[in-house]
Amino acid sequence: MDVEVLHHGGAVQVGSERLRLKDLLGPDRLQGGGLRIKGARLAEHSLWLALSDGTEHQVPLPPAKTTDRLATLIVRNIGQLLTMQGEGGVGLVAHAAVVCCREHVLEVVPDRDALSAVALAPGCRVVDACGGVVSPGLVDPHTHPVFGGERSVEFGLKAAGRSYLEIHKAGGGILSTVRSTRAATFDQLARSCGANLTRLLAWGVTTCEGKSGYDLTLEGELRLLEVLRTAGDCHPVDLHATLLGAHTLPPEYIDEREAYVELVAGQMVPRAAAEGLCRFCDAYCEDGAFTPEEVERIFRAAQAAGLGLRLHAEQFTDQHGTELAVALGAASADHLEAVGAAAIEALAGSRTTAVLLPGAALACRCPWPPARALLDAGVPVALGTDLNPGSSMTSSLPLMMSLACMQLGMTCEESWRAVTCVAAASLGLGDQIGRVAAGLQADLVIFDAPDYRYIPYHYADNHARVVIKRGRVVLERQRD
Ligand code: NIG
Ligand code: FE
Repeated sequence: MDVEVLHHGGAVQVGSERLRLKDLLGPDRLQGGGLRIKGARLAEHSLWLALSDGTEHQVPLPPAKTTDRLATLIVRNIGQLLTMQGEGGVGLVAHAAVVCCREHVLEVVPDRDALSAVALAPGCRVVDACGGVVSPGLVDPHTHPVFGGERSVEFGLKAAGRSYLEIHKAGGGILSTVRSTRAATFDQLARSCGANLTRLLAWGVTTCEGKSGYDLTLEGELRLLEVLRTAGDCHPVDLHATLLGAHTLPPEYIDEREAYVELVAGQMVPRAAAEGLCRFCDAYCEDGAFTPEEVERIFRAAQAAGLGLRLHAEQFTDQHGTELAVALGAASADHLEAVGAAAIEALAGSRTTAVLLPGAALACRCPWPPARALLDAGVPVALGTDLNPGSSMTSSLPLMMSLACMQLGMTCEESWRAVTCVAAASLGLGDQIGRVAAGLQADLVIFDAPDYRYIPYHYADNHARVVIKRGRVVLERQRD
């Protein structure tokens, strides 16, 4: 029986279930996110798939949920395991092993019990951490991974002294990427988005947030959200999408601000939410982008549609967007280079996470965001790459940890929490990822490093040797 292929080849509908390509093939066989499903047929207990590379596969249907406790993957010989358990610090356990059952962690045990604590499933894989550091899979809570073109010419202008806002207001910046994104095909965008996920994964990221925002038309923004869904369906990295229709005013609406805000609030947000294309809504609250009043109109619509809120706030100028984000119970307020003392106080009494983006501050020559003041006030602080073609062209989350430790006044422990448990909580995923504990998703990174401080200490060096996503090895490098 033929089954319906959905999401531009990213998934199939089997009965009442949507199965993503990565659920069917296993994340380790996805060829970097480039494969798509072209055809599918249901056989007995299995699915026949025709894939975009011309190959055909007979794959078993995902097994029905079982309660057995068999080890399918064990990471042993861990020098330092960072569990992130507890209120502060990294929850360090020395000489540990992590036993996983399919997609989840079964137990953390002393290394000497690694092979005897739990019965082994046939074919159980044992991965030697070689005495290195093992952390939860890193979580990047702020990226813009879907866009056409690139902006190296603008980088040259900035290097020669022009400012980001100057270029933005002259019709370059975000708008230049909007032009190349509109001109790109779905497939081109999905491929480059997948390539960005691969770059993030190379540094140990196993989950990220990703925004639209480079089309700025109704159908175009929905298309970008679809690209994000397809790219995430076909890539080991899990991608949680955010609508950023209010990134900047598109040229067609230059004299009709209100009409554009109305388009976002009245049509983009409800459609994106109704079609299940995103979990969050974001906006750029900035001089030259949107005012807090405009953002509020959009955010109220987003809340009514059941979306969570994230806000680009106080990047260059203090617009008091942070106070608005807090008042509306946003999941995060991001950037905050120009945030004021009152907003820090407001954040302290709220459930809004401060997501700091030191790569953007570095590249735009902004003052560093006040991480120390935020942390001292009790605000949860996460770190993101802000991967985007303009203000932060990087995929290195560990580099953000280094900048946080070297320039933002954060401790090594705070920087680790900021890219694991705090980032996960800001995405509403704190009970699934961002820590290592029984029952949580088996997302792990093995670093070739003698100590967890070695990672931020070695800035711009990559020490991630093995990455495990949902209990499977998805990246493996030779030891030096
Ligand atoms: O987070 N500030 C707005 N958005 C991005 C930059 C986007 C761009 O320059 O293309 C940011 O920095
Ligand atoms: Fe951003």
